[in-house]
Amino acid sequence: MIDLRSDTLTKPTDEMRAVMARAEVGDDVYGEDPTVALLEERVAGMFGHEAALFMPTGSMANVLAVRSLVAPGQEVLCEASAHIARAELGAHGAYSGVTMRTWIHPRGQVDLPTVRTLFAPDMGPFFVRTTAISVENTHNFAGGAVLPIQDLRDLREYATGVGVAVHMDGARIWNAHVATGVPLAEYGAIADVLAVCLSKGLGAPVGSLMVGSADAIAEARVWRKRMGGGMRQVGILAAAGLHALDHHLERLADDHAHARLLAEACGVDPVAVDTNIVVVQHADALGFVAAAREAGVLVSAVGPTAVRLVTHLGVSRVDAERAASVLATL
Ligand SMILES: Cc1ncc(COP(=O)(O)O)c(C=O)c1O
Repeated sequence: MIDLRSDTLTKPTDEMRAVMARAEVGDDVYGEDPTVALLEERVAGMFGHEAALFMPTGSMANVLAVRSLVAPGQEVLCEASAHIARAELGAHGAYSGVTMRTWIHPRGQVDLPTVRTLFAPDMGPFFVRTTAISVENTHNFAGGAVLPIQDLRDLREYATGVGVAVHMDGARIWNAHVATGVPLAEYGAIADVLAVCLSKGLGAPVGSLMVGSADAIAEARVWRKRMGGGMRQVGILAAAGLHALDHHLERLADDHAHARLLAEACGVDPVAVDTNIVVVQHADALGFVAAAREAGVLVSAVGPTAVRLVTHLGVSRVDAERAASVLATL
């Protein structure tokens, strides 16, 4: 089976497992795990921020990041198909009392004119106040689309002007960086806080980080524990993340090339494929998924007429070519 359902399906390589086995560890709730400390310091530095906090999941990193900017009863603006709006099961409302209003963009991009019309200043007892704007880069449900850096700069300028913060869901910020060459620190400069994942294209089995100011991270450390995310000798997992940053970052370019190959085979304009995700329109998505499975390729339906293919560390060039020829016949 060639598995194109998600880049979360990667399994740790032998080299990664060896590094994990050797990791120096301590109790991270006591702040005594040297490998976690190393990872947090390194990731904070990569994005030009003061501090970072290791967590089990990207969802938890997003929840703690957004709540660091938005108080209960206030709102965050985001694109309608953002992961925080669609796929975190209402966590931002359920845990943090955060409300959301959204704009719609087929490629998940920032629509600044609409953001301007949505923005609500503090109106005392009359309207919900906007305190943050969230962007997702790359945008998962928009097919791994990269947000253009100039749009992000314009957003940053606007947000600063009206006094609201910016959150970036950077679960796949690594793919955006490799696809565009924009330095991670430049993406970091756009956002007050980011959530970044090691467990997607980078191929670590577990792990995400919230990145931000020292104060925001100190507060998030308390909330992480409060929510049951205080972990102990997790240097074993942080070691996987460090290994992934050393060995699996630049190779994301291969995943992007494989995605373009699949796109071409499926009649999708490869120019529209920014990174490692391809969305194929088909009259019967579920039928397509079943037929692909029958032919040895796993893909997922993300709507009645939309099929998603995701390339990753576990898909070689040969796999991608074989999958391309199978999917082309369907
Ligand atoms: C854009 C985006 N943000 C956040 C997440 C959440 O990550 P996790 O599955 O680790 O909670 C995902 C997961 O796929 C994602 O695609």
